[in-house]
Amino acid sequence: MNMPAKDSNFLKENNARHQFHPMAHPADSLANPPRIITGGSGVHITDIDGKATIDAVGGLWNVNLGYSCEPIKEAITKQLDALPYYSTFRGTSNDAVIHLSYELAEFFKPDGMVRSFFTSGGSDSVETALRLARQYHKIKGEHGRTKFISLKKGYHGTHMGGASVNGNANFRTAYEPLLPGCYHIPAPYTYRNPFNETDPAKLAVLCASALEDEIAFQGANTIAAFIMEPILGAGGVIPPHESFLPMVRKICDKHGILLITDEVITAYGRTGAWSGARLWGVKPDMMCTAKAITNGYFPFGALMLSHDIADVFENDKTGAAAIGHGYTYSGHPVGAAAALACLEETKRLDVVTNAAARGTQLFEGAKKLLDKHELIGDVRGGHGLMTALELVSDRQTKAPVAKDVPVKLQEAIYKNGVMVRVSGPNLILSPPLIISEDHANQIISAIDVGLSSL
Ligand SMILES: Cc1ncc(COP(=O)(O)O)c(C=O)c1O
Repeated sequence: MNMPAKDSNFLKENNARHQFHPMAHPADSLANPPRIITGGSGVHITDIDGKATIDAVGGLWNVNLGYSCEPIKEAITKQLDALPYYSTFRGTSNDAVIHLSYELAEFFKPDGMVRSFFTSGGSDSVETALRLARQYHKIKGEHGRTKFISLKKGYHGTHMGGASVNGNANFRTAYEPLLPGCYHIPAPYTYRNPFNETDPAKLAVLCASALEDEIAFQGANTIAAFIMEPILGAGGVIPPHESFLPMVRKICDKHGILLITDEVITAYGRTGAWSGARLWGVKPDMMCTAKAITNGYFPFGALMLSHDIADVFENDKTGAAAIGHGYTYSGHPVGAAAALACLEETKRLDVVTNAAARGTQLFEGAKKLLDKHELIGDVRGGHGLMTALELVSDRQTKAPVAKDVPVKLQEAIYKNGVMVRVSGPNLILSPPLIISEDHANQIISAIDVGLSSL
C-alpha cells in the first residue's frame, strides 16, 4: 500500500500515543518509535518509508511460507464469504474445522497425536494443555497430581499458567504471584549452566538427573506434567542434546507424569523435521501448536492429544471428563480454512527439506562470524531455521553485552537489508522456511557488515 506523505507522518506520530505494545516499555515505544511495516511479499517486508528487507524473523517464527501464500489468502476469503464465524461449543460445529481435525490427525499420526483442541494461539494452546493435564489425572482418580515442572529459560506464552511454567524472570516478576505448584529445572544450555558443563551429552544427563531429583522431592504423585520446548526458542535457541528428550520421556513414563511438548515454534517444519518431538524420536502426550499453523495469517492454534489422553477422556462414564474450558474462537471456521490451506501448502512445498538445508547454511555462516567478531560469545542452532548469536562484552568472562548494543546492531543490520530480532543479548534468526540459498547468504553478510560497523 502506498501511503501519502501526510498519512505516514500521522502514523509515525500516533503509533505509541494510543496503544501499548506487547513486550515493550511504553515510554520506550514513545521515545523510540518502532518500525512501521506496511507491506510483505515473498520473504521480504517493506516499511512505511519504502525500504524493503529480508524478514529473517519470519513474522514472529510463524510466517513459514512467506507473505505471498495465495492459497491461504484465497481460503480465508472464501470462508469469509461462506461462513465468517460459528462457535464449536457443545452442540455446534463447522465443516472447515471437522476437515482440519481429520487432516491434523493424519499429519501428526507419526507423533501419536490423534485429537485436536482448537485455540486462538500459542498461549491458549499451552493453557489448554496444562488444564487438560490436571483434568486427565482427576478423571483417573489421581486428584493430587496438580503440579508442573518445566525448564528454566523456557518460554510458554503469557497466560497465568504459561507464565508460571515460563523460565525467564522478564515474563514473571511483574506479574507474580503466579500459579502455585510450578517448579523449574536447569535447561540443557551448554554456554551457561549451574554445572559448568560444556559437553552437551553430559549436560543432558545432569539436567535429567535434576528432573529426577525434583520429582523425588515433590513426590511423583503430586505432579501432573512436565512441559518443554523441543528446542528452546525465545530463550535464545537452545537445542538440547539428542539424548535429552528421550531421557525425559522415560522419566515421565516411570513416574506417571504427562509429557507436553510446546511446539508453538517447532511444529510444521521449522526444525527440519515435521515436529520437534519427531526430530528427537519421542512421542509426547500432548503437543501445543499455533503460529505457523496458519502461516501467521489468522490467530489460531491446536493442542494435539495422544491416544491415551483421548481414551481416558472419551471412556469416562462419571462426567469428570466434561471439558469446562474453551475459547469463543476455538475452531473458528476462517482460522480452520486458513490452516487447511496452509497445511496443504506446507506439505506440497516440502518445507522441511529446505528448512534443514538453509538452517545448516545459516548456522555454519553464523559460526564463521564467531571466528571474526569478538562480540559474539556463542552461536546456537544446527536444527533447521532456528539460529541465535549470543552477544557478550567479554568472551573470557562471558559478561553480558551492554544493553544498547543488540538494538544498535539490529539497526545496522536493517540498514543492510535484513530484519533480525533481538531478545536480551541474543540475535535470533527464524526466517521463513522458503528462503533461498542467496537469501541465507544475504542474511549472514548483513550481520557481518553490521557487526563490523559497530
Ligand atoms: C514455545 C512457545 N510457546 C508459547 C508461545 C505463545 O504463543 P502466542 O504468542 O501465540 O500466545 C510462544 C510464542 O512465541 C512460544 O514460542
